[in-house]
Amino acid sequence: MHFAPTEDHEILRQAVRDFAEKEGKPTAAERDEAMEWPANLVKKMGELGFLGVAVSDEYGGAGLDYISYAIVIEELSRVDASLGVIASVNNSLVCYGIEKFGTEEQKREFLVPLASGRSLGAFSLSEPGAGSDAASQKTTAVRDGDEYVINGTKNWVTNGDHADTIILMTITDPSKGHRGITAFLVDTHLPECKIMKVENKLGIRSAHSCQMAYDNYRVPAWRRLGAEGEGFKIAMTILNAGRIGIAGQALGIAQGAYEAALEYAKIREQFGKPIIENQAIGFTLADMATRIKASRLLTYEAAWRKDNHMDFIEAASMAKLYASETAMWTATKAIQVHGSNGYSKEYPVERFFRDAKITEIYEGTSEIQRLVISRELAK
Ligand code: CAA
Repeated sequence: MHFAPTEDHEILRQAVRDFAEKEGKPTAAERDEAMEWPANLVKKMGELGFLGVAVSDEYGGAGLDYISYAIVIEELSRVDASLGVIASVNNSLVCYGIEKFGTEEQKREFLVPLASGRSLGAFSLSEPGAGSDAASQKTTAVRDGDEYVINGTKNWVTNGDHADTIILMTITDPSKGHRGITAFLVDTHLPECKIMKVENKLGIRSAHSCQMAYDNYRVPAWRRLGAEGEGFKIAMTILNAGRIGIAGQALGIAQGAYEAALEYAKIREQFGKPIIENQAIGFTLADMATRIKASRLLTYEAAWRKDNHMDFIEAASMAKLYASETAMWTATKAIQVHGSNGYSKEYPVERFFRDAKITEIYEGTSEIQRLVISRELAK
């Protein structure tokens, strides 16, 4: 396996780190507290190419590989996981889906602005009754001449209230189960597409997750992504790639929490010496560093497999599963290393702890990742 980052990857990492430290870090805690959407930072990320990292330059992207994409999401999330998920959704859940399944017309119309940061995307699969069981879609799309009429409610649409274009999953033929699901590229700026609420969440609060409703929403047939009935396959394929992004996000959260704990353990003195000199603390930091390294290797390997056109479903699920559980574990321990200071909003680790939890849930819970991996093993 040859998935070690190259010199170019390290140059990119430094550029993203500089941006995240200089532009993201100073306002991260404040934006989190206020649930403030980082409009200026999203604009800058677009200008820097962070919203279309692996999209070919022909379609407005940076034309880099998936390891670069993982590094971008990791470095953003090391400082602010909200920035990480905003970028991740646009990159892999939206741009990747259009580049892979879209017509030339759809790529020109939607992908170019999305990948170059001139517009923002969201992906809409979850519903009140369709979480892990993604195939049980209730949002209907009924053909009417050259249009489809869409009705239904979608939950947990990350970027929803700031997105211009959404990849929306609907059911066009309920009798066919998952083979009756159809995807569309919808424009959010029509009155029949409504934001019902922005969730007040535990973590990643500066990234918005919305409930959205479609009320007799008319979409022209040329905006259908793929054929009728191909939507479930499209959603699953998109999520395979998206899971590499969430693995990168979890990795960044774990790295940020670990660095904060390490720094604190070196300067905090109790019983006349820095607490890192206690074996209990030193060993905790050693375990953090080891698990983070393993997460990084899994994440880059999944990205490398995708770059090399190899099967990466199992690798992406393993990376997402392991990195997200590492993020949660590391952030929990990072608070413990900080003692009661870790419980205060004066320190960043409580935010990493709150942000880590979602990585075990969205784009497939840890239980779904284990299901995917075990099914792949059984093949
Ligand atoms: N990649 C490609 N195709 C896949 C696939 C995958 N990972 N998993 C399943 N498929 C295909 C199967 O091959 C099958 O195809 P055929 O029609 O040709 O037979 C079809 O999909 C149905 O597969 P299953 O019978 O396995 O479907 P299922 O209903 O038993 O279970 C599941 C599938 C894996 C549980 C799936 O529902 C799943 O992944 N659930 C989790 C949903 C999820 O990740 N939601 C995230 C929401 S988006 C989000 O979180 C965004 C955000 O905010 C950041």
